[in-house]
Amino acid sequence: MQGSSEQGGFYKLSMTERVKLLQKLTGLSEEEVKTLRQTGGLPEEVADRMIENVVGGFTLPLGMAMNFLINGKDYIVPMALEEPSVVAGASYAAKIARAKGGIKVTNTGPVMIGQVQAVGIKDPKAAKAKLVSRREDILAKANAQDPLLVSLGGGAKDLNVKVIDSIKGPMVITELFVNCGDAMGANAVNTMAEAVAPLVEEITGGTVLLRIISNLADKRLVRATAVFDKEAMGGAEVVDGVVQAYAFADADPYRCATHNKGIMNGVVAVGIACGQDIRALEAGAHSYASRSGKYKPLTKWEKNKDGDLVGTLEMPMAVGLVGGAAKVHPAAKANVKILGVRTATELAEVMGAVGLIQNLAALRALASEGIQKGHMKLHARNIAASVGATGKQIDVIANQLIAEKKIRMDRAKEILDSMKA
Ligand code: MEV
Repeated sequence: MQGSSEQGGFYKLSMTERVKLLQKLTGLSEEEVKTLRQTGGLPEEVADRMIENVVGGFTLPLGMAMNFLINGKDYIVPMALEEPSVVAGASYAAKIARAKGGIKVTNTGPVMIGQVQAVGIKDPKAAKAKLVSRREDILAKANAQDPLLVSLGGGAKDLNVKVIDSIKGPMVITELFVNCGDAMGANAVNTMAEAVAPLVEEITGGTVLLRIISNLADKRLVRATAVFDKEAMGGAEVVDGVVQAYAFADADPYRCATHNKGIMNGVVAVGIACGQDIRALEAGAHSYASRSGKYKPLTKWEKNKDGDLVGTLEMPMAVGLVGGAAKVHPAAKANVKILGVRTATELAEVMGAVGLIQNLAALRALASEGIQKGHMKLHARNIAASVGATGKQIDVIANQLIAEKKIRMDRAKEILDSMKA
């Protein structure tokens, strides 16, 4: 760093001016500036409106997972991520599921929860009773904020009031249950939560502090299930291995974190490709996995009477097709078109199916040849490219690294040098 990061008015500069200043401050080369300035499929002015202090874009590889049959419909699934083997694993496992009818998914509807925190209340139980008795007024106030959503059949449908104990004493939490339709819902729900706050204060005599959506979206669940033929899985041993792997995750949070990470490899990759808030998806997934007080797998794996493997997944899936990046990011719009989903709920179902399939892909590999075999091919190619190999050299070097079991940069460089000589 060749200057201070305290640069008042950085946000007021144009993108070009910001990059110039950044270059001065950090010593970026012209080449690096050019790389950062590229916004891929996203027009500069759109990028500049989406977040603050924009200097450019950041591109991830976009791959298509094939073979998905979900609720009887065919899908090509766009996935944006940096990790090798995920797209291949999803395509492979989706093909196995296809033979037994594909993945079946149901959902609980697109309901999100908005929370209003009231403190400083002398009699919290009485306040709760008063809030419940004013249910209709509170819901009406919430719904007045979004006539369009209400006209489409959505809006605030129900209310829950709870008294919680906290390190700062009791608090009265009013929860709005909002059907968000095709929106992820953060904007709609937050607007409603803010709008009902004065009424909550008036009813309780307390002070409202937070008014915000909950990412523990347990009223917006998807449930996916699929059967995987034991022969296609590689035999009864692999089926048993997957069940053992699930038992391990169920019993041990250290394993469970990685098990659920494998699910999120799929969910997040589709989420990024389709312009979703993947932080919300992660928060929802892991908090849901902990809802019993113990951190648990989001999937379950069992053997049926034929010896085939049966997988089920249940998790929150807060996604939207209107009002977010899915609507303004041209690449996200193209990916939604490829996917062919018509509603946010259909997108959620597809993402649940991908989560289940991705988990199976990982567990199958772990329970049989291990995951490194698949990873190593791509890893070896990356190593070859990183030492300067190009075109056909990459595969030649990668194959040699694998054959020698020396997937290392020093060896890749040696091979490249000998090829050049
Ligand atoms: C790697 O990104 C994901 C896995 O670790 C998932 C798992 O262990 O189940 C392979």
